Amino acid sequence: MQQEAAIGLEAIYQRIGTGPVSAEALTSPEIYEQERTQVFGRMWLKVGRVEEIPAAGDYKIKRLDVANTAAILSRGKDGVVRAFHNICPHRGNKILPETGNETFGRARGHSLTCRFHGWVFDSSGPLRMLPREDRFPEKMDHNCFGMRAIHCDIWEGFIFINLADTPEQSLADYLGGIGRHFAGFPYGEATYARRYSTVLDCNWKIALYAFSEGYHVETIHAATFPKLAVLVHTEFKTFGPHSSSAIYVPPGGAGPTPATAKFGEVLFRSETHGRRLQDLPPTVNTERRNDFQFEFPVFFPNLVLHACAGSGYPGMVYFSHQFWPLGPDKTLWEGTNFYRQPTTPSELVAINHTDALHRNAWLEDTSTMEDTDAALRSGVLDQLYLMDDEVMIRNTQFHIDACLAR
Ligand code: FES
Ligand SMILES: [Fe+2]
Repeated sequence: MQQEAAIGLEAIYQRIGTGPVSAEALTSPEIYEQERTQVFGRMWLKVGRVEEIPAAGDYKIKRLDVANTAAILSRGKDGVVRAFHNICPHRGNKILPETGNETFGRARGHSLTCRFHGWVFDSSGPLRMLPREDRFPEKMDHNCFGMRAIHCDIWEGFIFINLADTPEQSLADYLGGIGRHFAGFPYGEATYARRYSTVLDCNWKIALYAFSEGYHVETIHAATFPKLAVLVHTEFKTFGPHSSSAIYVPPGGAGPTPATAKFGEVLFRSETHGRRLQDLPPTVNTERRNDFQFEFPVFFPNLVLHACAGSGYPGMVYFSHQFWPLGPDKTLWEGTNFYRQPTTPSELVAINHTDALHRNAWLEDTSTMEDTDAALRSGVLDQLYLMDDEVMIRNTQFHIDACLAR
């Protein structure tokens, strides 16, 4: 997939056009089936952070319903993170039991044991031993019966996998310009993570697209963030299927400052948690404007990051959204806030306050998604007309269409 950069709306429109997008793409079960193989079966997908499995032997199991599998992300004795399908090469049981969408654990003695008949795998993949091996009528070549590998690579501490037998591109080439644009940000210092997630009765793109534009803020977030009515959504750029844009909020928005805003002040005043524009990659907020809120890239196909560096939300280094299809009209949404570790009770209270503020905003965001899905399924609309602030939606859909057309 080409990753050439297009900077500014004019250049983007020249590349992907300005026409309406298909409403059917958001509802059709047939299109969803194609997306499972052509998009989720071939693109690089972010499945975790290295801090989630910090020590040798640690593992995380991430369910990937869209591909009818689950990935074991395992840190071997050598410290390398690898990915495997959670399926035993003996009779196909899950090697490790899954307790939910994500399961965490540690391999004792760096070995993972299938609980059905006790085959034992090294946490780096190979089969170590199988009980009563002498009773197999044919010689069992241990090299052929290791855990089934999934292509795995890491960008800036984010663990990505690719479910294709042979990925078309390396992760570095796949991310291309977006990877370079957002490299060098202190993701790894923001180890205090707070997660919200829910299953929504809507197509995954309806959820993704609701978080890909600033057009809705003035209306949907009028109650929570009245001052954001004056926000400026700008600096649009695309890198092939990936895109990015920035939000600034010049002073002057309507409405009172909520009394609870003082909770955040302790973080804004802190050297650790406060606004640290110097942490931003040099290509982000190049003028180091103080009214910068965040720049948010859409990593094709289903990840949105928001690089804040302490701007916007008190204490927030960055936050992320990810959208996992569970069916044509069912989506697991995961929203995670990332902070540096609080060191005092007042910092912890302030972070709790930021989380509550953000939860309220996300409740407002998610409130539209099931309604949109239900209404679009009426079939009344054939096409959707997008404005400039919705150009990242246009870019994502353009490249999903391109994946399906191959
Ligand atoms: S299915 Fe795993 S050991 Fe038999
Ligand atoms: Fe929103």
